[in-house]
Formats: sequence, structure tokens, C-alpha cells
Amino acid sequence: MSSSFQAPKGVSEYVPPRADLFAAIRSAFAEQARLAGYGYLELAVFEDTNLFRRGVGESTDVVSKEMYTFEDRGGRSLTLRPEFTATVLRAVLEHNLHKQGALPVKVWTTGPAFRAERPQQGRYRQFYQLDLEAIGTEDPRVDAETIALAARWYASLGLTQVRLLLNSLGCRECRPGYRTLLQEFLRGLDLDEATRARIEINPLRVLDDKRPAVQAQLTGAPLMADHLCAACQEHHDRVRELLADLGIAWEDTPRLVRGLDYYTRTTYEFDHPLLGAQSGIGGGGRYDGLAEDIGGPALPGIGFGLGLDRTILALEAENAGFEAAPRCEVFGVPLGAEAERRLFALADELRRAGIAADTAFGGKKLKGAMKDADRSGARFAVILGERDLAAGEAQLKELATGDQTAVPLTDLTSTLRERLSR
Ligand code: HAM
Repeated sequence: MSSSFQAPKGVSEYVPPRADLFAAIRSAFAEQARLAGYGYLELAVFEDTNLFRRGVGESTDVVSKEMYTFEDRGGRSLTLRPEFTATVLRAVLEHNLHKQGALPVKVWTTGPAFRAERPQQGRYRQFYQLDLEAIGTEDPRVDAETIALAARWYASLGLTQVRLLLNSLGCRECRPGYRTLLQEFLRGLDLDEATRARIEINPLRVLDDKRPAVQAQLTGAPLMADHLCAACQEHHDRVRELLADLGIAWEDTPRLVRGLDYYTRTTYEFDHPLLGAQSGIGGGGRYDGLAEDIGGPALPGIGFGLGLDRTILALEAENAGFEAAPRCEVFGVPLGAEAERRLFALADELRRAGIAADTAFGGKKLKGAMKDADRSGARFAVILGERDLAAGEAQLKELATGDQTAVPLTDLTSTLRERLSR
């Protein structure tokens, strides 16, 4: 029986063995980020509500409908982070990282984010992202570097079906003119009340409408790609050239818009075809005006958020074969008090040698302890009984085959190291 309590609806939780996978893919990302010079940040999980209002944008679903906002005991309005970019930028400016070293400031962070969405497979109210940002340069090589980092991480996990959808959303020079054109086009369509309202507030989002009746009418809609200013066009061409140099495939997706208001120029999504409605496994782009929007200096930036939950679902859907390192390779089966002592010390020795080891606890008999050994996932059991102790050896049993050999106690660590590497 469980307790009287359950986790709140829509919270994504992980327990072993899935949680081991979760931790392993996050570690793999940490290593990629390190190799590319990105430093780690550990940041606030809640912020002044106005940071997200101004940063992410009032017209977005995230801010207008999905934030977990509460008043603290001092009457301040706080919000659980619905995303990381605004928080990262706030922290970079607050800690003056942009004044301390070379630009761009290259950083990453990870943890839960919160959005009050309708929960379903792949869409949670508490979910997990890997977030990486490069702040302080417009150099298109940084756009390509960040995209490559995400693509290489997916590939390193064994995912082969990830698609990269790429677009440019222009800048504060060329987008207003395009926005007006798009609004004129959209006002002439047959749309419902709510969508007509959206034309006035956030017309680009209408392009993203998934309903077939709406999509059918959008065929002739003007596209940002055809109205980029010369500087944005050049930037976009450079990014694509650099991705091609790295051998990273993408699909030009001129209708791609993102759910957050801060994006400029390069925008992209990583999509997984086996995940149904929640196929966006990661997304990102440039936000060249965001620092000023939150009261800081002009500091262009680019980055991404990769959804850890959906990445796990993609691994499972593709049966990608990426596995966490085992939690137990050798399992000690002690029979009697002296054997318990010896195997307790052996487990410690094995761990220090980098071998995952565990033992039976609670004074179990042979049968119970062997059952634990099987459940542990270990390759080998080390069985130590009174007769073995007297002979100065232990029984080394390969669990998959049942093969058993006696090994001198003094040779156990080296023998196990050798046999595990076979
Ligand atoms: P986003 O597209 O809103 O972008 O979220 C990034 C990823 O987080 C999505 O692609 C998806 O995998 C995952 N995600 C979002 N909402 C949920 C949810 N309710 N349940 C499960 N997974 C979810 C951002 O958040 C931007 N801050 C990314 C960014 C960083 N742009 C520039 N820098």
C-alpha cells in the first residue's frame, strides 16, 4: 500500500532504473558543455514575476496562462521559473559575468521548470531542461556552435531520428514591417474570434496554428524568410554555411515560430518524429534585445533549452541503446558474521577501484542473498561461506551462466577487474 499522498498532478518524477538514465544523459551533456568551454550555473528556482513578464513576454501562453505565481510572506509576487533564459541572463548581469572575462559569457544550467499546462505524455507541469546560453556576441559561429553542441549530444545518446528545424525571425529592424504585412494577410482570412484577437497581439503565433482548417488558409502567407533585412539574411546564410561545414543536417522551416517573445534571428527546434503531439525535444535561438528588455545593457545572446523528459521518451521510442553505467557489477553474498565483515571491506575496495559493488544486508541466508544478487543486475556474485573463509578463498559466480570458480581472497579485486573487462 502507498501512503495517503501522491505527487501533484503533472509532475514528472524519476525513480530507478529510469532515473539512472536521466542522470547519465545529463552527465553526458555536462561533459559536452565542458569540452566546449561552458561554465556551470546553479540558479534561483523562483524569481520576481516581472522578470518573466518582461523577459518572456505578456503575449505568450507561458506568461499569460501557465505560470505558477504566488505571493510570499512579504507580499512580493514570485513565480516558479517557466524557463531558464530570463533567469540566466538576470544572473549573468547581476553577478557581472559579462564584465569579468571575454565575451561571450558561455554558461549552462539544468533543473526543473514549471508550466501549468494540461498534462499528457511528454507534457508536464514540472519538467526538466538542460539550458545553455552564450551571451555577448552576434557572431554567427556561436549560433552554429550551440546548435552543434545539442546535435552532438543527441547523437552521442544514440538517437538517429532527431530533426533540426531552422528559421530566422529577423530583428527589430525588419520584423515590424513583416509583422504588418502578415497582419494584413491574416485579417483577410476566415478565423474564429480567439485567433482574430491573436492577429493583433502575436500574429506570428497564428502561423503555428496546428488546425488543418487554419493551415489550409495559410498557404499564401508572407514569410519572414522573404523579408529579412540584409544583415539578418547574411547572418542566416553564415549560420547555415557553418552547420554545413560541420556536417550537421537541418531543414529550412520558414513557418517555425517559437512560443516565447524574445527571439530574434536564428531560431530552431529539435523534433522527434516518434513522439506524437509533444515532438519538440529541444528548442532555442537568439534573443538580441532581451538584456535591454530586463533593464540591462545591450548584450546579444543565443542558447537553447533541451527537454530531458522528452529526450528520455525519444531514447525509449527509438530503443536507442544508450545505457547508464551499472549501479552494481559485483554482489557480495556473505554467509555468517565474519564473511559479512570481509565482504563489506571487499565492496569498499572494489568501489575504490572503480567497480560498482553491493552486498546483501540483514543477515540473509544463501537463497535470499542470491535472489538479491540476481535482482541487483550484477554480473558476478562473490559468495563467502565458512568453508571458503577457512580455505582463504571465495566462490566467484558469473550470474548469467552460473559458472563458478574459487578465487583466493587476496586476488579478488584484480580477478574481478580482469573478468569485468572481458
Ligand atoms: P521551450 O521551447 O519553451 O524553450 O522549451 C524547451 C524544451 O523544453 C522544449 O523543446 C521541450 O522539450 C521542453 N518542454 C517545454 N515545456 C515542457 C513541458 N510542459 N513538459 C515537458 N517538456 C517541456 C525555452 O524554454 C527556451 N528558454 C529555450 C532557450 C534557451 N532559448 C534560448 N535559450
